[in-house]
Amino acid sequence: MATMIKENKKFKVIFVCLGNICRSPVAHGVFEDIVNKAGFSNDFEIDSAGTAAYHQGEMADRRMRETARGHNIEITHLARKIKKEDLDYFDMVLAMDSQNLFDLQSLAQNKEQLEKIILFRTYDPLANGQEDVPDPYYGGSEGFENVYYIVSRTGKILLDKINENKALR
Ligand code: 4NP
Repeated sequence: MATMIKENKKFKVIFVCLGNICRSPVAHGVFEDIVNKAGFSNDFEIDSAGTAAYHQGEMADRRMRETARGHNIEITHLARKIKKEDLDYFDMVLAMDSQNLFDLQSLAQNKEQLEKIILFRTYDPLANGQEDVPDPYYGGSEGFENVYYIVSRTGKILLDKINENKALR
């Protein structure tokens, strides 16, 4: 992993999708829950954002919140658009799909920023070559459940990978 982890500093992770009302806020909420339950809440700062500003200031999509609530995850985040400065501030920038990856890479201004931007499903043990967390916005409830399961299993591996990288230092 190219990401550098600095001693005694919070590791800052941001999840990024298009609207910041479905995929990235649930990844944000689920990863926070995984980190808290593993006892690392003081070691992380976790956020999410969208590449578009369509839903700026809004709560996450009701269907996404209800799906998450069904798994005891409360999503409280309000949507915001990613800023250029976020690519300096965060240590790891996780793109929920390949279009988000492209848009984030286009926003990057140097090699250091580019190296922080990673496709989320790189860490999905069941990705089977699929790069995208499918956008559930225009589909039915099964799409939201599918997103939940992807971010849940992938979040656990992501935490392990970050901690392994910490241990190597
Ligand atoms: P998200 O889903 O990127 O997972 O938050 C979407 C939310 C809104 C729209 C598209 C995708 N939209 O077109 O408004």
